[in-house]
Amino acid sequence: MPQSSDAVVLFGATGDLCYRKIYPALYHLVERRRLDVPIIGVARAGWTAEQFVGRVRESLDKFVPQAGEEAVRRLLALIRYVDGDYRQEATFQSLRKCLGSASRPLHYLAIPPSMFPVVVTMLGSSGCAAGARVVVEKPFGRDLASALALNQTLHEVFDEAAIFRIDHYLGKEPVQNLLYFRFANSFLEPVWNRNYVASVQITMAEQIGVAGRGRFYEEAGAIRDVIQNHLLQIVAFLAMEPPVRFARDALRDEKVKVFRAIRPLDPGRIVRGQFEGYRREPGVAPDSRVETFAAARLQIDSWRWSGVPFYIRAGKRMPVTATEVVVDLRAPPANVFGTLAPERPNYLRFRVGPDVAIALGAHAKQPGSAMQGREVELFVSQQQGEEMDAYERLIGDATIGDAVLFAREDEVQAAWAVVDPVLRAQTPVYEYPQGSWGPPQAEALIVEGPCGWHNPGASAHSWTRACGRGEAPNRAPSP
Ligand code: BG6
Repeated sequence: MPQSSDAVVLFGATGDLCYRKIYPALYHLVERRRLDVPIIGVARAGWTAEQFVGRVRESLDKFVPQAGEEAVRRLLALIRYVDGDYRQEATFQSLRKCLGSASRPLHYLAIPPSMFPVVVTMLGSSGCAAGARVVVEKPFGRDLASALALNQTLHEVFDEAAIFRIDHYLGKEPVQNLLYFRFANSFLEPVWNRNYVASVQITMAEQIGVAGRGRFYEEAGAIRDVIQNHLLQIVAFLAMEPPVRFARDALRDEKVKVFRAIRPLDPGRIVRGQFEGYRREPGVAPDSRVETFAAARLQIDSWRWSGVPFYIRAGKRMPVTATEVVVDLRAPPANVFGTLAPERPNYLRFRVGPDVAIALGAHAKQPGSAMQGREVELFVSQQQGEEMDAYERLIGDATIGDAVLFAREDEVQAAWAVVDPVLRAQTPVYEYPQGSWGPPQAEALIVEGPCGWHNPGASAHSWTRACGRGEAPNRAPSP
């Protein structure tokens, strides 16, 4: 049984990620009495410990306005601060001193990837890495080669079992629900394969643009930022074989198999887009060719999925913020009702953000003398919001050494291998209007079935899809 971490050390403690996500998550962990160890912020800001505590407080005021005073007090009492340059030994000596008797710290690297090697090496040489775990934020490299190099750097100091690579999508309740729904039910399994599934689509749409992160985004683009990680993780949950149990390596073994079965992306099967006005964002080059939208057609060469296209799409400045998966089933084998047969076969729809919904698209008879049908959606489940924030869940798991929802070395590398061929390919970048569904060229990727892309709506009940004859009216069922 792994032992719990006895200190949490945050590198990049004055940065944006800590401010927005990590301090609120730590608050909730403390509030639920899942964390009661020193929390040491490390940064080169020239700050005092008081200033740092002020920053944590400010983060809670902003992101956890309902925070209870008693829990806030308990959290703040755990906070320590070490100011210093990551390149200087003295910083790590101070950290060692601050750790005191702690012998199993959890080091969280909320810093730019270029600083990983420096910090990891210093942690090793200062003795701060002994008995420790390390949490590494995405991006894990920029491509396959740099991911290999990064993993090598980490392994010089940490064993793989001590490395926790965060993909916050794995900590999301609705994403876990995908996995749960697949493997806690038996009715899906008979149809969950190439014999019954015509195609699968995943759309991750965001209304926001690059939100002040222009400099970061210029280095990333949609493929590196969300497709290589968040979207491929969703593909893995949808396409994997049942793991023998929900446990660290059993689950990760199955995900790796999926990534290895995905054919490396062909530049002809990807469409890149950039929203109008992106080049005027602060930190963005006036002639930038970085994509803020990407759509791709994936092929999975496995026994289960051979020949079934997986369409994935992610974009900024889309009409709504929503992530949905649609699994289209094949048409019934015979056209019993002649011309009245449903134009659109059955489908399963999983809404995995911002709220959770699972729906089954079916056909029922329209009342009346004619054997005429209408489309209905059976809502299998719907819940509001997320019980536990993804960061809270994942940091909590890392402190107790539970790695099941973290990415393993071979998994990250196999995911990079999927996108690697298109990272350097000079495919066209088409401009698209803000608030649209991306460049029209993305439509041409869909080769299966009468319908185009499924466009999620602002609410779980609303969506649109063009089914052969142009944009169909929104078939929202009665609430
Ligand atoms: C991050 C990306 O990993 O995920 C962002 O860097 C993106 O660009 C974000 O906006 C989306 O996460 P969520 O939880 O808001 O869906």
